[in-house]
Amino acid sequence: MNFEQPAVKNPKRYTVTTALPYANGPIHIGHLAGVYVPADIYVRYLRSTNQDVVFIGGSDEHGVPITIKARELGVTPQDIVDKYHAIIKQSFADLGISFDIYSRTTAKIHHETASEFFKKLYDNGKFIEKTTEQYFDEANNQFLADRYITGECPHCHNPNAYGDQCEQCGTSLNATDLINPKSAISGNTPILKETKHWYLPLDQYEDFFKKWILEEHKEWKPNVYGQCKSWIDLGLQPRAVTRDLDWGVKVPLENAEGKVLYVWFDAPIGYISATKEFRDDWEKYWKDKETKLVHFIGKDNIVFHCIIFPAMLKAEGSYILPDNVPANEFLNLENDKISTSKNWAVWLHEYLQEFPNQQDALRYVLTAISPETKDNDFTWKDFQTRNNSELLAIFGNFVNRTVVLIDKYYEGKVPQYTDLTDLDKEVVEEIKTIPQKVATSIEHYKFREALAEMMNLARVGNKYLTETEPWKLQKTEPERVKTILNLSLQICANLAIICEPFLPFTAEKINRMLNLSAQKWAEAGRVDLVPTGHQINKAEHLFSKIEDEQIAVQMQKLEAAKK
Ligand code: 2FM
Ligand code: ZN
Repeated sequence: MNFEQPAVKNPKRYTVTTALPYANGPIHIGHLAGVYVPADIYVRYLRSTNQDVVFIGGSDEHGVPITIKARELGVTPQDIVDKYHAIIKQSFADLGISFDIYSRTTAKIHHETASEFFKKLYDNGKFIEKTTEQYFDEANNQFLADRYITGECPHCHNPNAYGDQCEQCGTSLNATDLINPKSAISGNTPILKETKHWYLPLDQYEDFFKKWILEEHKEWKPNVYGQCKSWIDLGLQPRAVTRDLDWGVKVPLENAEGKVLYVWFDAPIGYISATKEFRDDWEKYWKDKETKLVHFIGKDNIVFHCIIFPAMLKAEGSYILPDNVPANEFLNLENDKISTSKNWAVWLHEYLQEFPNQQDALRYVLTAISPETKDNDFTWKDFQTRNNSELLAIFGNFVNRTVVLIDKYYEGKVPQYTDLTDLDKEVVEEIKTIPQKVATSIEHYKFREALAEMMNLARVGNKYLTETEPWKLQKTEPERVKTILNLSLQICANLAIICEPFLPFTAEKINRMLNLSAQKWAEAGRVDLVPTGHQINKAEHLFSKIEDEQIAVQMQKLEAAKK
């Protein structure tokens, strides 16, 4: 049923997934800017527009790097994933990433789901079986996963390329391509030995991909469409979906001892297992063609989400295909590639401790610099500037002045507005039009643009107060002041609605100050959100200044990592 599935026009519901991060390290700003913050903005917006949406996340707990880390530390892979799953889950929650469920691929339901999925494809003859020669470490009596083999890259001659990829030139490799291969476990030269595996014959899906992506999904982001096109143009090859390894989902066949599903086969099925875990009626989120499925990922995951997983779903036959895969490019840190192993990162759990109650500052900056069309750079100096001179000086200052003045002049009772001047009318027009601009940008996955539009409303408000200077008019023109402050307060209430996807903690604070309950997107654009006579609360600070000393501490941490 899923052979042809162009963009879903009027979706009945949404399934939004985020790449499942490997549970072998904590979350850093690169993950956040690339995947989780944009996905959360999108989902919060959908919820605010009353859409039926499930927001899926979870830890990817299989794969060879986890077994390598466990081996290095002398613990089990389960120990590793238990530790990091807990850290990751908590830090996402603390940043306000509003998953409906954050599951994990070691969950029983996931093993069952992935296993059944494989079995169905196997039973329906969707795989081909191949016996090939693979590297084997005789000293340890085990087949070597590609990551356990290092050697010289045949393309750029990097001496430390891995058997699956050269991290220097980015080329995907087969372990047998490496010059001078060595086992990462024993250091010995491995031998080649025969082994049987199951392959998904992607070559048989070429025509399907040409039509489905190249013709029917021209609207995908240019970076995503371009990568898919070059894969398809190069010609698709059968892909092994099993591995010789003892960590993962066991291959559910007889005579397959010591074999597990390839991590990239089971991980995306994790989206389905998590939905199942979350809702009994999970099927409509995966099998109804009026559901819009959107995968948020980083650019290194494009082929898996645009080619391999869709081929799996299509082979299975009862699932929908993704409507869009708005993959981002990479975020660098202080002009260097973020690297977990080199500790060149800003770790989310550390940020949350070192900048308490400043989640929205991070969400704001990461959205403003999100690598939507090309790689971008995070610097601590820029972080400080954007916090202090945008969030604090414009947004925070505007809301604060409005609430303080209403408290001071009217004991917090919202004054009535009277005649509108031309300037007031211009402000009203902005209140009416900006929410729609924000919405359109979000719907097109242009989160930076959406954030800039949202900030424009704060700018309009700030400028309005600065130009009209109500504090100078209170004695001479008290009626005019009532109008200015009423309209300013309407801007604050509108900001609470339209900033919520980006800055949820701030939205909550504004609503608390305004003594309002959270309102839905449809209400945005109104200039009577806060009724005349309504009692508001005292002002509280929305944002805090980030001092030079705090930035210096962060720079020292990075210096230490460099050494
Ligand atoms: O690249 C990664 O971090 C992978 N763990 C992403 C998996 S996404 C999905 F397929 F689960
Ligand atoms: Zn290379």
